[in-house]
Amino acid sequence: MRTTNQWGQDVTTTKPGAAAALDETLMSYLAIGRETGDLLKSVLNTDPDMVMGHCLKGYFFCLMASGSLWTRLPKVLAAANQGLAAATPREQAHVQALTHWADGDQGAAARVWEEILSSHPLDVLALRLAHHAYFYRGAAGDMLASIERVLGAWDEHCPGYGFVLGMRSFALEETGEYSEAEKIGRAAVDLNADDPWAIHAVAHVMEMQDRHIEGIDWITGLQPHWNAANNFRYHLWWHRALMHLDREELDETLRLYDENIWDAESDEYLDLCNDVSLLLRLELLGVDVGERWQGITEKVAGRTGERILAFADCHFVAALAAGGQMQAAYDMAGAMAAAGGIFASVGAPVSNALIAHRKADYASAARLLGEVRGTIITMGGSHAQRELFELILKDAEG
Ligand SMILES: [Fe+2]
Repeated sequence: MRTTNQWGQDVTTTKPGAAAALDETLMSYLAIGRETGDLLKSVLNTDPDMVMGHCLKGYFFCLMASGSLWTRLPKVLAAANQGLAAATPREQAHVQALTHWADGDQGAAARVWEEILSSHPLDVLALRLAHHAYFYRGAAGDMLASIERVLGAWDEHCPGYGFVLGMRSFALEETGEYSEAEKIGRAAVDLNADDPWAIHAVAHVMEMQDRHIEGIDWITGLQPHWNAANNFRYHLWWHRALMHLDREELDETLRLYDENIWDAESDEYLDLCNDVSLLLRLELLGVDVGERWQGITEKVAGRTGERILAFADCHFVAALAAGGQMQAAYDMAGAMAAAGGIFASVGAPVSNALIAHRKADYASAARLLGEVRGTIITMGGSHAQRELFELILKDAEG
């Protein structure tokens, strides 16, 4: 049977209520809500055969960029493919995109999401996933163009309009259009303050413009909204800590690390990147971070074989080296070099540079980072995140 979702798109399901539950799950995903996973479970409990339910599960596994979840993707894809013949062309395209992503080709997935958007500009799932894909390819221009192409189809009556403004704000920020990014980001937050991505976009503008006190006030003032988010909330704490660090309020930075950023239970890649990045920046400023590397190194030790995000892998290597696991760090950098693609061309030299820097081999660190300086952006991450590599290079050049 066919029904329509709240964006007017046909959805294939045999059970009443499943499409509405899927809508609710998507809105929670856009809000980076903690309950997103449970909502998806309720979708699949309502309709265990729903193609888009399984597809969304696969997307969520990919978004987590975790090796253990990646191994479960074939089963999820098989479940999505079960009902494929009866599904709509839009749903079939989503499963195709998931297939590409599961094969490690997020670029091909992005092309499929763009095809979906050309006929369904209100498909906010395709829009958000394309946004993510461009972010992790360092393609800020594509990220902005993707949003601008569909904007004419959206207005404030469309569910999730504020989230689209939030994405537009972040894309503007990453392309350096700071004043427009701030204006759109503030408008997004005015429409819907429960949008951590929009809050985050404006925080990025303030970080890039060295407006640290304003940034701290902005993040702190909206804390009840973003602190309800899933682990992404740690990234907002990280941004606040970064602003204190920029103000050389190092005790406060460390306090935030210990009390609000470090989560002993989490092994999510972004959390690990936040942790590694902040500790390295503190060390560059001469702070002794004590035993703090130990916990990170232990978490990373079990994930050295994952080749999902080169950006994350570089942070993992840095953690291994900082925690004294030099051989494991070398082995991981070697495995990146052998993996080809972006892992070999950018990830491995950056990783080897981070190891060299840890060993106080500053000449090698500077040479390796200097060689990839122009291409490091293709690993993705934000300007603020990639600034770490610039700081290491500057330190190595002494
Ligand atoms: Fe950020």
